[in-house]
Amino acid sequence: MKKIAVYPGSFDPITYGHLDIIRRGLAIFDEIIVAVARNSQKNALFTTDERVGLIQDVLKGEERVTVDTFGGLLIDYVASRGAHVIIRGLRAISDFEYEFQIAQMNSCIGQEIETLFMMTSLQYGYLSSSIVKEVCSLNGDIDKFVPLEVKTALRQKYGMAAK
Ligand code: COA
Repeated sequence: MKKIAVYPGSFDPITYGHLDIIRRGLAIFDEIIVAVARNSQKNALFTTDERVGLIQDVLKGEERVTVDTFGGLLIDYVASRGAHVIIRGLRAISDFEYEFQIAQMNSCIGQEIETLFMMTSLQYGYLSSSIVKEVCSLNGDIDKFVPLEVKTALRQKYGMAAK
């Protein structure tokens, strides 16, 4: 049986921190579905389609990864895709409480679904999509945090020339 995991998030936008989790996840699972939340409570900079497009661009050629969107309850989506595992990255102790609460809730309402936490690699422990957006909006260098496609899209959003 194929081992399929869902890696959900808002991905506004995808960063090297997310890509690190996806690459390491592929060593464990046969297939990873990157699931972009359509109605995240966050005020997104990129539309859902733009976020999906960026993820597809940066993961082009990676046949074991598919990109999708979901609305409603995550566990319902996971079940609908025939998966049993949710992957989440943990960056710091501060992530733990929130992630623990969501994982507990998900396991209460969706008994068959397991959450697998992966420690974010050391070099991305401080990273978040918000902080990358802030640095970019202030014309800072974001090369170490996001692939070129994402950097270009971000600079466009902020009305800046490519650099
Ligand atoms: N490296 C670097 N940064 C990372 C990272 C990593 N490995 N993993 C996450 N992050 C960052 C993200 O960039 C994001 O930054 P931001 O807050 O500045 O945008 C932050 O960590 C957390 O984002 P993300 O992992 O995308 O999670 P989220 O909190 O935005 O999304 C959902 C959570 C969408 C998965 C969750 O709310 C959900 O499942 N919603 C569906 C509804 C539902 O089922 N609710 C019931 C749950 S009990």
